[in-house]
Amino acid sequence: MKPLTLTNNAQSDSDKRNQEKLVAAGELPRHIAIIMDGNGRWAQTKGNIRIHGHKAGVDSVRDITESCAQLGVEHLTLYAFSTENWNRPSAEVNGLMKLLVASLRDEAENLHENNIRFSTIGQIERLPVNCQKKIQEVTDLTKDNDRLQLCLALSYSGRWDITEAVKKLAVEVRNGNINPEDIDDSLISSHLSTADIPDPDLIIRTSGEFRISNFLLWQLAYSELYITKTYWPDFKRDELYEAIKSFQKRDRRYGEVKKGYTKAISSTVINQIIS
Ligand code: IPE
Ligand code: IPE
Ligand code: MG
Repeated sequence: MKPLTLTNNAQSDSDKRNQEKLVAAGELPRHIAIIMDGNGRWAQTKGNIRIHGHKAGVDSVRDITESCAQLGVEHLTLYAFSTENWNRPSAEVNGLMKLLVASLRDEAENLHENNIRFSTIGQIERLPVNCQKKIQEVTDLTKDNDRLQLCLALSYSGRWDITEAVKKLAVEVRNGNINPEDIDDSLISSHLSTADIPDPDLIIRTSGEFRISNFLLWQLAYSELYITKTYWPDFKRDELYEAIKSFQKRDRRYGEVKKGYTKAISSTVINQIIS
């Protein structure tokens, strides 16, 4: 397979070594999801208007996508525009939509040549028609690629996602296709917009906010969180590697007891302690 060229930079030997070390150090997250935050503040610190930050953020998207593909991460989901972001001033919203179309136009061939599959989640029908067309084009062009699945969350919110799943299930119950008792975790998961994507193993949020802002609410039940103060336009691969290193040190217990942590204790002993 030809080397990835999304950033137009040849991969340095030291970056190759860093990636090799990371892969050797432990399991990689299969799915990384990122709340790309802080573009506006990044621009403000430079005395610029917010849209400069959004434009600079596209370079981070390229760098992170390229490095995830090189590492062998299977899924990368990027929160690019939330349902609530529609409430921003229309000049900013229009600027973001134009930037999206321009970026998709510039990157489509590149994504395809690098075997990256592009997809979206969210209320795509709310986007301007030219955006919708571009999204469809890039989705169709890259649909058979199997290196990295890059999913953009656009006009997305976790509550919207869950609401839509509930509506679909209600219709299936009404039509007699399923019984209410059939509804369980996995049936709900399979009715979400992420039905064909595993839950994120690692969620990264840039810009230091300790909140989820209506991202993958259902899917993040057991995701590991990594929050950094770095603004999104400054978030590049070296910090992604730090996030992955942190992930590799986590002990994912899923509510169970760490293996080897407790000796088997008889119920008599437990009863003595409690009484
Ligand atoms: C994230 O950066 C990008 C979008 C939400 C579209 P922001 O635009 O939220 O930048 P800050 O958080 O105001 O600095
Ligand atoms: C979250 O960032 C949404 C995206 C990154 C697309 P926001 O900037 O919209 O979130 P809040 O307002 O800080 O919660
Ligand atoms: Mg923000």
